[in-house]
Amino acid sequence: MDLPPGPRAPAAWQTIAWMARPAAFLRRVHARFGDPATIRTYWTTEPMVLFSHPDHVREIFRLDPAIAPAGQSWEFLRPFAGAHSILLLDGEEHLRERRLMQTPFHGERMRAFAPTIAELARGELGGWRGRVVTLERMRHLTLEIILRVVFGAQGGEETDDLREAVEGALGSVRSLPRMLAMALVQRDLGPASPWGRFRLAVERFDALLLDVVARRRAERGGDSVLALLLEQRDDDGNPPTDRHLRDQLVALLVGGHDSSAASLAWAFERLARHPDVHARLGEGDPGYLDAVVREVLRVRPALTIAPRRLLEPARIAGRELPAGVQVAACLWLAMRREDLWPAAGAFRPERWLEDPAPNPMSWIPFGGGVRRCAGAPFAEMEMREVLRAAADLRIRPVRPEAERAQRSMLVVVPDRGGEVIVG
Ligand code: HEM
Repeated sequence: MDLPPGPRAPAAWQTIAWMARPAAFLRRVHARFGDPATIRTYWTTEPMVLFSHPDHVREIFRLDPAIAPAGQSWEFLRPFAGAHSILLLDGEEHLRERRLMQTPFHGERMRAFAPTIAELARGELGGWRGRVVTLERMRHLTLEIILRVVFGAQGGEETDDLREAVEGALGSVRSLPRMLAMALVQRDLGPASPWGRFRLAVERFDALLLDVVARRRAERGGDSVLALLLEQRDDDGNPPTDRHLRDQLVALLVGGHDSSAASLAWAFERLARHPDVHARLGEGDPGYLDAVVREVLRVRPALTIAPRRLLEPARIAGRELPAGVQVAACLWLAMRREDLWPAAGAFRPERWLEDPAPNPMSWIPFGGGVRRCAGAPFAEMEMREVLRAAADLRIRPVRPEAERAQRSMLVVVPDRGGEVIVG
């Protein structure tokens, strides 16, 4: 196969580098082979061609979903995500699902969630003393936010039961190798087998989710994303079924939990090492807060690639690529290009306030095209509210050197969990 150049090391070695030191691996591949480059890992069965030039990234985001579907990359999640899941659909069905799901994430309706998020964030940060592993705490907080703001859980038993069931189900999903193995051997060998345990966790989780849907339906109104999703009507004016709502809630959970927690942990990791930025954040300028959020997402994106599998040959960057390969917009490399981002590795929110401001087209932490993150406005608002609550916190790093990036399931996290000393 005539593919762009890339490391010759065995796939096993590339997989280890991809998982354990993704930033260093991508940097080395780019320095040695330029753009585009081909990597081979066990992450996908096919080789993956990475692109980072903005023109080529745009070509990938514009590929016809009939030729380059994204849903197939999530196929292993089907047993958990469900048949209606936006993650698994492509083409017309996917667009229809996106139109339905995006209603709660716009304008006034979305901004109305901000005070609740702010309150949950203040409650979380108010208890911090001594050494704090921010990644663990942000996983907890972003889940509380999803339970309260997305599912509409009002605390007490409903929240406790849901939290426990989500953690049980996500625990299985997070261990990707186990998930892949289960997707291959989906045989129920009794409740003690991995697949059997997984099925039980999902069944328990589904029963609770369907209860939540029934309760929100009965309440009529309410101030959650689910309450707004209940107002959806399809092209024939029909309301969504319970199973469909269940799949939407799971997509929001899978899309929005680990990614937001990782991004916030990186924010703490960066702020602890840039006291000047943290001090300026304390002055309360909303423009600067926005700049900090954008800069964290640029310099430490939680997702490094947006992959598509080619079902037919396609031409990208003037090269003919064969069917069967994966092509990916490499979000991480695209936002580290020195030609677009001077001192690209530096954490410098000020760059967003200078004239000329960076070109927003090359800022792609949420991907792009028809698959761009459906929760991006929510994610940015969540980060703003948490960082606003953190503005007066006194934090310093446990060790002075920057934390390195490592993969945890689908996202990239700081390798010591974004640990800081508070107080
Ligand atoms: C900072 C946090 C987040 C980051 C960095 C992030 C990033 C991304 C990226 C890169 C994609 C894939 C884009 C592509 O393949 O082109 C994606 C998809 C998605 N995200 Fe996010 N995301 C974040 C938070 C959220 C939140 C909070 C939600 C929901 C409340 C969410 C829901 C989704 C969904 C449903 C998809 C699938 C969209 C589709 O397939 O059409 N994400 N996200």
